[in-house]
Amino acid sequence: MRRRAAEYRRPVRKRVSYWIWGILGLFLFSLVALLLFVFLHNHENPIQQPHSEKITRSEHFHNEGLNFTEEILSVTSYARQLADQITLAKAYVIIAKEQNNLQLAWELSSKIRNCQLLLSEAAMRGKPIKLDEARPLAEGLSSLIYKAQDAHYDIATTIVTMKSHIQALEERANVATVQSAIFAQLAVEALPKSLHCLNIRLTYDWLRNPDLQEVSNEKRNSPRLVDNNLYHFCVFSDNVIATSAVVNSTVSNADHPKQLVFHVVTNGISYGAMQAWFLRNNFKGCTIEVQNIDEFSWLNISYSPVMKQLLDPEARAYYFGLSQDPKGEGKLRNPKHLSLLNHLRFYIPELYPSLEKVVFLDDDVVVQKDLTPLFSLDLHGNVNGAVETCLEAFHRYYKYLNFSNPVISSKFDPQACGWAFGMNVFDLILWKKANVTARYHYWQEQNRERTLWKLGTLPPGLLTFYGLTEPLDRRWHVLGLGYDLNIDNRLIESAAVVHFNGNMKPWLKLAIGRYKHLWERYVNHSHPYLHDCITS
Ligand SMILES: *[C@@H]1O[C@H](CO)[C@@H](O)[C@H](O)[C@H]1NC(C)=O
Ligand SMILES: *[C@@H]1O[C@H](CO)[C@@H](O)[C@H](O)[C@H]1NC(C)=O
Ligand SMILES: *[C@@H]1O[C@H](CO)[C@@H](O)[C@H](O)[C@H]1NC(C)=O
Ligand SMILES: *[C@@H]1O[C@H](CO)[C@@H](O)[C@H](O)[C@H]1NC(C)=O
Ligand SMILES: *[C@@H]1O[C@H](CO)[C@@H](O)[C@H](O)[C@H]1NC(C)=O
Ligand SMILES: *[C@@H]1O[C@H](CO)[C@@H](O)[C@H](O)[C@H]1NC(C)=O
Repeated sequence: MRRRAAEYRRPVRKRVSYWIWGILGLFLFSLVALLLFVFLHNHENPIQQPHSEKITRSEHFHNEGLNFTEEILSVTSYARQLADQITLAKAYVIIAKEQNNLQLAWELSSKIRNCQLLLSEAAMRGKPIKLDEARPLAEGLSSLIYKAQDAHYDIATTIVTMKSHIQALEERANVATVQSAIFAQLAVEALPKSLHCLNIRLTYDWLRNPDLQEVSNEKRNSPRLVDNNLYHFCVFSDNVIATSAVVNSTVSNADHPKQLVFHVVTNGISYGAMQAWFLRNNFKGCTIEVQNIDEFSWLNISYSPVMKQLLDPEARAYYFGLSQDPKGEGKLRNPKHLSLLNHLRFYIPELYPSLEKVVFLDDDVVVQKDLTPLFSLDLHGNVNGAVETCLEAFHRYYKYLNFSNPVISSKFDPQACGWAFGMNVFDLILWKKANVTARYHYWQEQNRERTLWKLGTLPPGLLTFYGLTEPLDRRWHVLGLGYDLNIDNRLIESAAVVHFNGNMKPWLKLAIGRYKHLWERYVNHSHPYLHDCITS
């Protein structure tokens, strides 16, 4: 930096008088000082650097003797163990800072720096890290992590914070890491205790009461479920209270709630609880059916590539092998359930063969207006009505898909605008005509090796509904309430549906205070189970 400034200087000096040069020199000097300050300041704060950047940087150092990429990936290597600890420690730095425990944050940061130093030294010299080098650092870091855990940062908080931090980095670094996807899954799994408690009590209720089961059997054959004069909504979720808030907010804001029909699909674990909740509570006379995904025999390995992939040992190792399970709490449930429920949105015509139009809602939305006008919107021959997301950020196709792959780059425009799942109108007649499910299967097959995208339903959705998506007015669906602290109040007020996408779900402790009431007002806290579970 300095040398460059000096080179500039020579030709200038001949023409400009000394005092002008003096001012210029002073200016350059302060510029250098400023840059230096910014540089040092950034380094003081290691957690603000994207994690992935750091890994690639150390990869560049590798030389002949040792493949550092392999070393860092090897389960048994000390490098890997240190790297894992660093990841965990970084999460605790953020938590500690959020809780104003600056001393702990500082101690953690300094230990993290030492570990990173050792890792980069090892990469430079091309020899694996030895036990006696790793031990003092690892022990120091472990004891701090233990201290952090002890300071009542429970596991759900940890995971969610970790995920939200990684997501924030992702936004900046513009890369989707597999790791963050895994944390996302863990965060969803790690339900707060009160929700577990609710599930257990409701399941008990369901099993103990044959009457409930009888009522449910009678409702199963209701002609309302297939009546195309009514308004049909579907929600696929294993979270009872979230689903309840979706249904309740929709009916509470509907002009004619009795004309609404909800099709809920859940998994075997939550089935009884979901049934009991919707049978025991009144939702303004709307019709609700609850189904169990485990009972869909048509959704099997020979039909659904995603099912096949979810059962494939290699893919499972890839998605779940990396996950850590500290303390053994929040154990992964069968991952098949969660992901299949997520992918069910691609099978709506199979699920409801006689329906013509449905509105699909995610379980983390709250409805604030009558949604029935959605059913008469002109989709101009498109299958999917959705809100586009490229207005505010860089949510274009290249962000979600691997455009270095010719399969993608030959068929899609990298600048095409992304759109959101969460509140979609689907025309099921056109869906079947355009073989949309087959398109989805095709792309899912193409991605067998995970080279087109890594995880999730949005990337295959973008491919499947390419050229079949009608952009809706954005006030139909306002996104970001699970991560964006600065959404304009007027935008939220004008929204027909608000979406808590992100990690700070309204039912978690980490919910963003400003938005939480939007969800809470649709939850009856005086319900005895809810009351008992929350206060116990
Ligand atoms: C290092 O190992 C990785 C993973 O096994 C491999 O992809 C990469 O090509 C290797 N690099 C060298 C220079 O051998
Ligand atoms: C698998 O699904 C297909 C179509 O969805 C169906 O025809 C077949 O009977 C199913 N197989 C089993 C074993 O259920
Ligand atoms: C959909 O699939 C059917 C049968 O496989 C085929 O006859 C039809 O041409 C396909 N339609 C489109 C739009 O691809
Ligand atoms: C993207 O596609 C290219 C070409 O198939 C492949 O070599 C590369 O590994 C893919 N990238 C990722 C991150 O999977
Ligand atoms: C549904 O929402 C209303 C507020 O609109 C609330 O009073 C009621 O308790 C909620 N019902 C349930 C079952 O949560
Ligand atoms: C809330 O739940 C309690 C207990 O089930 C019930 O008595 C009350 O009517 C509910 N309140 C509303 C507004 O639905």
